[in-house]
Amino acid sequence: MMHVTTTIAEFRAARAALTGSLGLVPTMGFLHEGHLSLVRRARAENAFVAATIFVNPTQFGPSEDLARYPRDLPRDLALLQREGVDLVFAPTVAEMYPPGFSVSIDVGPVATPLEGAARPGHFRGVATVVCKLFNITAPQRAYFGQKDAQQTLVIRRMTTDLNLPVEIVICPTIREPDGLAMSSRNVYLQPEERRAATVLVRALREAQARFAAGERRGDMLRAAMHAVLNAEPLARPEYVSVADLTDLHELDQVTSGALASLAVRIGTTRLIDNCILDDDHHSQEVAR
Ligand code: PAJ
Repeated sequence: MMHVTTTIAEFRAARAALTGSLGLVPTMGFLHEGHLSLVRRARAENAFVAATIFVNPTQFGPSEDLARYPRDLPRDLALLQREGVDLVFAPTVAEMYPPGFSVSIDVGPVATPLEGAARPGHFRGVATVVCKLFNITAPQRAYFGQKDAQQTLVIRRMTTDLNLPVEIVICPTIREPDGLAMSSRNVYLQPEERRAATVLVRALREAQARFAAGERRGDMLRAAMHAVLNAEPLARPEYVSVADLTDLHELDQVTSGALASLAVRIGTTRLIDNCILDDDHHSQEVAR
């Protein structure tokens, strides 16, 4: 039986009764196959699995989509039950941020460019809530998606620097059949926009193909991605990056293992995607 909790005290009581490793999958809900792939990996590697469902207000900017972020708790719980999740933590905002709450975690340089620049305060909110969730749930391992590449770097940095006793496991990006990375935000897309949204993975495939063919100049790879985006009238690029995977500085000379990433607006919907460039023509990152 899956135990669904909404308070910290109730979760801790249920967690204390478990002996054996706990794998944690933190989410904002409206679950899709990307989330479920993390749950399955956690299920395979731990005696028990916990999932959290919390649309964290502190990681949304004032002009972002917090109010309209999609939610469907009954459906999410049915999916988690089917995957054999043992414990769910689905708190209210008041439970996580009671009056007087004031601490936050600044992860530093790795949180500054790309998403950090486009979304001021976003990673402060992410790091703070994930630290709280680790402290509440006390997992041995926690599972995150490569889809949010910079988020994985932020969480690794925080976990290392604050000596949090949690092993961070990064799982591959799960895609729709046409290559679009799965995201809770994909439901915002109108049919015409949904077709245009494949432009993100098409731009990444172009960069990967050029890299595999020998192109090593960062500006040429970024230009090749921009060219794909510019050919899609519904797409408005926010950034296009080919950066070092460890510190996210933009690369002049690109080597295998670099992170190609981008943020693009399709209508009012903001989408992100990324891939790790490699020499192999049959790269799994954005495989067709
Ligand atoms: P959310 O966007 O719900 O994502 C929860 C987890 O699922 C994250 O680790 C994310 O990278 C992963 N994920 C999302 N789409 C994926 C896909 N297509 N393939 C593989 N993994 C995917 O990320 C957050 O929530 C929040 O920032 C959170 C970490 C929960 C903190 O509030």
